[in-house]
Amino acid sequence: VFREPENEPLLGYAPGTPEKRSLKAALAKVRSEVPEIPLIIGGREYGSEEKGRVVMPHDHGHILATHCKASPEDVERAVKEAARAKKEWENTPWTERAAVMLKIAELFTTEYRDLLLASTMLGQSKNVFQAQIDAVAEAADFIRFNVAYASSIYAEQPRLDRDSLNRMEYRPLEGFVFAVTPFNFTAIASNLVLAPVLMGNTVLWKPAGTSLLSSYYLMKIYEKAGLPAGVVNFLPGSGEMISQVVTKHPDLAGIHFTGSTDVFSKLWMQCAENLRNYRSFPRLVGETGGKNFLVVHPSADVDAAVTAMVRGAFEYQGQKCSAVSRCYIPKSLREKILSLAGRMIADMKTGSPEDFRNFINAVIDEASFDNCMKYISAARTSTEADILFGGRGDKSAGYFVEPTVIETTDPEFVTMREEIFGPVLTLYTYEDDRFGEILELCDRSSPYGLTGAVFAADRKALALAARKLKYAAGNFYVNDKPTGAVVGKQPFGGSRASGTNDKAGSRLNLLRWTSPLTVKENLR
Ligand code: SER
Repeated sequence: VFREPENEPLLGYAPGTPEKRSLKAALAKVRSEVPEIPLIIGGREYGSEEKGRVVMPHDHGHILATHCKASPEDVERAVKEAARAKKEWENTPWTERAAVMLKIAELFTTEYRDLLLASTMLGQSKNVFQAQIDAVAEAADFIRFNVAYASSIYAEQPRLDRDSLNRMEYRPLEGFVFAVTPFNFTAIASNLVLAPVLMGNTVLWKPAGTSLLSSYYLMKIYEKAGLPAGVVNFLPGSGEMISQVVTKHPDLAGIHFTGSTDVFSKLWMQCAENLRNYRSFPRLVGETGGKNFLVVHPSADVDAAVTAMVRGAFEYQGQKCSAVSRCYIPKSLREKILSLAGRMIADMKTGSPEDFRNFINAVIDEASFDNCMKYISAARTSTEADILFGGRGDKSAGYFVEPTVIETTDPEFVTMREEIFGPVLTLYTYEDDRFGEILELCDRSSPYGLTGAVFAADRKALALAARKLKYAAGNFYVNDKPTGAVVGKQPFGGSRASGTNDKAGSRLNLLRWTSPLTVKENLR
């Protein structure tokens, strides 16, 4: 019997603590080694002639690792190995599969804690607190809560009628699952692979190129925990090529994706092109972009709203699909909000995550840096926008973008509509008596529906917001920051252009990786 787990507790990492000392040693080690990351297919490592590099975003001259790249033949081989491994894995009692998962969670939080933290901090430029919440706590929580949800799924009792026995058998999907994982959360990279695996599936895993170091260590931990060869096949390389080969395969049974709306849409279209070839309609489960809002009502607690706004926009440099990126503020509170926000932003130190005092680190790569600067310069050159804070960037040594606040007089200005995925927040000030109209505008001016928050003390205003914004967010926060969903408490995901809303870390998500069989046995 699996009881509801507790969320993994967080450590303080204060100066002089043992956890800080041991993490410092791991950071020094990860910094000085340059492993060559292989492909791992059917439990065997494979090389490639062409290699890529993994660098530190905050010091891009520093190479952390080199990596091999999968060829179309490697992808074919991985499909075969996944099919071979599945014969045993799907027939392994689910409790044994769960035991391997729980062993992985234990390794995340003990023996491999420092390695996961150090590779996430250096490889993805994440400060220690954000890295701990992600690579240790959320990664372990996903596993432990999913095991508890699976236990309730598999425990469903057969229903006995007078003359028949009726039951559901939660088979895995027939075929393999393709997991495509993002750079921004080590926990998401882990969960997109392990949720289908827990339910008896085998996986081809295409990790993001920029976060390969932590992904590689995840793979090593799975092996160490006793996950059988071929259950997960690790395929660094070109996402485009790998997706082409995978989506042509008749045994593609599902895709578990987190990344851009654009790439997920392409995968749907590739599946549509190949639809006649598949044995089953593939399950497409994806979490994509967001243009997350924060609406402040004149009755709001201003301190709480500004803290949520600044932290929600700039934690992990705004590189969360949940990050706050557009705010609607009432005229009567504008001065106070700007003065508080300015103070908070001025207090945020920027630099390498190796100095634990730095709150802001680098954005992930040059393309991301250039993209942020493109939007900042659109604001700089527009007559409808001003830059209130930040606005500068420097990519000479690391990809640093200042936390930037834009103010616009056009509520549909480009930075109010398009996802930027960086530390760029846009504000629009409304007349206090136009709250209802602002909610409607908020709902229609972006194609996304991921997260959002409303701050108000007035209960009527909150009720109105909940009604008008019903489909504007899959995770809706009342008087709280719309980032940092906790597994087991706020299952995460959105609809519209933000994905299929199959809530990461939920029973609903696990059911997507099953193809239930209904059995009626005649007892007469
Ligand atoms: N789950 C994360 C959050 O809520 C984003 O992916 O911030």
